Amino acid sequence: MGEMAAQLVYAAPDAPCELVAVVDVQSDRAAAVGETLGVPAYGSLAQALAAVEADAADLRLPHDRHAAALLEALAAGLHVLVEKPLATTAADAQAMVEAVKRSGRVVAVAENYPHLRAVRAAAEAITAGRIGELVALRSTRAYRIGGVWVRDGWRTGVGPAAGILLDQGTHHTSLLRRLAGEVAAVSASPGLSAGDTAGLSLRFASGVLAQSLYTWQTPATVVQTEATAYGTDGRIDINVAYDTADGSAVLTAAGKPPETLAAGEYYYDSHAAMVADFAAAIRHGHAPVVDVADAGADLDVVLAAARSLAEGGREIRVGAGAA
Ligand SMILES: NC(=O)c1ccc[n+]([C@@H]2O[C@H](COP(=O)([O-])OP(=O)(O)OC[C@H]3O[C@@H](n4cnc5c(N)ncnc54)[C@H](O)[C@@H]3O)[C@@H](O)[C@H]2O)c1
Repeated sequence: MGEMAAQLVYAAPDAPCELVAVVDVQSDRAAAVGETLGVPAYGSLAQALAAVEADAADLRLPHDRHAAALLEALAAGLHVLVEKPLATTAADAQAMVEAVKRSGRVVAVAENYPHLRAVRAAAEAITAGRIGELVALRSTRAYRIGGVWVRDGWRTGVGPAAGILLDQGTHHTSLLRRLAGEVAAVSASPGLSAGDTAGLSLRFASGVLAQSLYTWQTPATVVQTEATAYGTDGRIDINVAYDTADGSAVLTAAGKPPETLAAGEYYYDSHAAMVADFAAAIRHGHAPVVDVADAGADLDVVLAAARSLAEGGREIRVGAGAA
């Protein structure tokens, strides 16, 4: 993801900040990106900061490395954009939230779904009552994991950073929370292989119900309807496209032709929007769209779902109602 962010976001002519160095403990990877983009490459953040001046770090690391890397970057006085999920444990997430508070730095979490135009348009339409009262939500993240995403092997299997829930769960939780507010409880069921497929039932504080299905065991389609919001007067489909600019949000109300609320969206545009938001938050001193508290709430839901999976699918309360 760091390579993609470097090429798609930081090398773009309208990039909101200047890339000054690339860091990877695998020096060949850093060197390849550095050479392509004409910036120096280093084997650690400390080495980079000894050689170049920087205001911020963008951390795109395996899930169980986020906490230590964030603390190191904050100790160096940097603003930070850190990938999702915020952490892999509640204790790490808590330490991160406290360190951010103490630091006074801007810290954004790279949960890009709230930056998708389709998600923003759907949230606005729901708030404006365009589908009547929101009743239920359904989300599906279904594709086959492979290619660069399994290069180092930490994402799949049974390691501390592995599994589709940790990898994709905060994405759809952040999407659903944008549409329906806070989650009150979650229960989860495994599929054929628990790390690769899981189904979640979520109850929101508002009483809205949601079901989320995650699987890495089926081929992807070019455009996927990742979420549908059902209201008393209509529904909104959120369609996501990873390789083409075909993402959209479409509202269908009883007796009316479908209305396109957002169109022509390429998934990685949301990453550019996210980095632009992070840079603007630093420049203007405001909070980013997704801060550590917000991302921590998504992680709480995912960790509760993992606990439910481990405890036979019982419902686990989260947020204000948690024990
Ligand atoms: N939002 C999205 O659309 C999206 C998509 C893909 C990945 N991601 C996220 O990006 C992050 C990285 O995933 P990935 O697939 O790129 O992983 P990856 O394994 O391909 O790359 C991670 C890199 O980090 C390096 N690394 C590990 N520890 C390091 C350290 N302490 N200092 C410097 N470098 C270190 C590794 O050598 C590796 O090259 C994850 O949090 C993942 O969830 C987000």
